[in-house]
Amino acid sequence: MEISKELQDAINEQINFELYSAFVYLSMATWLETQNLSGMAHWMEVQFQEEYAHAMRFYRHIVERGGRVILKEIKAPKTEWTSPYEIFDDAYNHEKEVTRRIYAIGDIADREGDRAAQSMLSWFYDEQVEEEAQTMEIRDLLKLAGDNLAALMQIDARLGARVAAATAPTESTAP
Ligand code: FEO
Repeated sequence: MEISKELQDAINEQINFELYSAFVYLSMATWLETQNLSGMAHWMEVQFQEEYAHAMRFYRHIVERGGRVILKEIKAPKTEWTSPYEIFDDAYNHEKEVTRRIYAIGDIADREGDRAAQSMLSWFYDEQVEEEAQTMEIRDLLKLAGDNLAALMQIDARLGARVAAATAPTESTAP
């Protein structure tokens, strides 16, 4: 079943938002580098890569369904923060917005009875639970740490150990 125009437009919009998300996290990484919080910056660099992989999942879905990917201008991200807490609070709120947008795409797929799109989206439903949980946990830890330098260094070291997940299907699996 070929993808509908409405669903294609919504997924194209999401490709743009995932690439914007990648920019947001890379911008957060650069700010964290200026604060010498290289573990947190590393965590954000991994997040940047994951967002690119998310964009490519949506990209492949459109291509494999006989649709057309249309790339648009990516909005510039915020560049200044006042604390790592503010960064991760922003990240948590950003992920809630991503979830809201993915659910809205799911509503279109439901209305159209597009089971292929729902199957693709179900991976994202699970992923978003993890994305929100991770950013919320780190934000809450940073709130507990406050201005305690030893606690901040401990969180920085923990985030510096994050390993990238291989999540991007980069080419069609069709023969
Ligand atoms: Fe692509 Fe962080 O959601």
